Amino acid sequence: MSVVVIGSANLDLVYEVDRIPSPGVTVLSRGFASFTGGKGNNQAIAAARAGADTLFITALGQDEAADRLAEEARNAGITLLDRRVDAPTGTALIFVDRKGENSIVVNSGANAELVDLTEAELAEIAAADVLVLQLETPLATVIAAARAARAADTVVVLNAAPSGAFPVELLSKIDILVVNEHEAAELAGEPAGTGERSLMSVLTVHGCDVVITLGAEGALVGGWGTTPVKIPAFKVEVQDTTGAGDVFVGAFAATLDHTADERSLVAATEFATAAAALAVQRKGAGPSIPTREEVHEFLAAQ
Ligand code: RIB
Ligand code: NA
Repeated sequence: MSVVVIGSANLDLVYEVDRIPSPGVTVLSRGFASFTGGKGNNQAIAAARAGADTLFITALGQDEAADRLAEEARNAGITLLDRRVDAPTGTALIFVDRKGENSIVVNSGANAELVDLTEAELAEIAAADVLVLQLETPLATVIAAARAARAADTVVVLNAAPSGAFPVELLSKIDILVVNEHEAAELAGEPAGTGERSLMSVLTVHGCDVVITLGAEGALVGGWGTTPVKIPAFKVEVQDTTGAGDVFVGAFAATLDHTADERSLVAATEFATAAAALAVQRKGAGPSIPTREEVHEFLAAQ
């Protein structure tokens, strides 16, 4: 399976706190560390570690963070097509609380310069089996990439995260949407707390298949005119959920088969659920991403 990921790369600055501070509050952290992250980068590492031949198109600055991200991506087996632009490499300020929940602020920096895909980049998209996109990259680039993929029968997987920025009518331009419940509700224009089966029926009207990830509840897989299938999650000790959604997306894309039919979607979701279950048990985004062997061992032990 060959996967092209277009997206963000960030250096994650992670503070472990007892409680995520509310406005006007100062808290002391229990620990600090930096990790490689960014939704695009996490998804590319997850796809590569899951065994896909993975190419990652991203924009980095000309700083130490860029060198670290490039080195770790290559060590994960990724072919990197990076632009070095005149802006700082993206960073993310992350608070992780005692339950492993987080809140994140991203400074896009160089990621905002990932515009005007080159002929060579468009050719890579056309040649791939699967294209993976998220929304930490300018929307025009996301749309141009999806169009190039569609014209060449490359399966388009969109992770509409972070939420908000995607016009719902453009869902007809992608093949598979992967979202969490918040993102699903926002895209569907429904109030927070709307049940996942209602969200599923609103979103699949646009013609794409949809995977709604439900955290500890697993995931719901559906398509137009089919009955959604619920995939349960695994019960694990949560350390840090940062990037778990990205691990899901990358592992999912890497294990789809070329038909991307319902059976393939369900099998890929089962594998991705296990990969995410391993990632939440470890700290950091990049370093927490499991290999295909680790996922198989985990599944065998269940
Ligand atoms: O999804 C997790 C990622 O979101 C982090 O790695 C951070 O960089 C932000 O992009
Ligand atoms: Na983690």
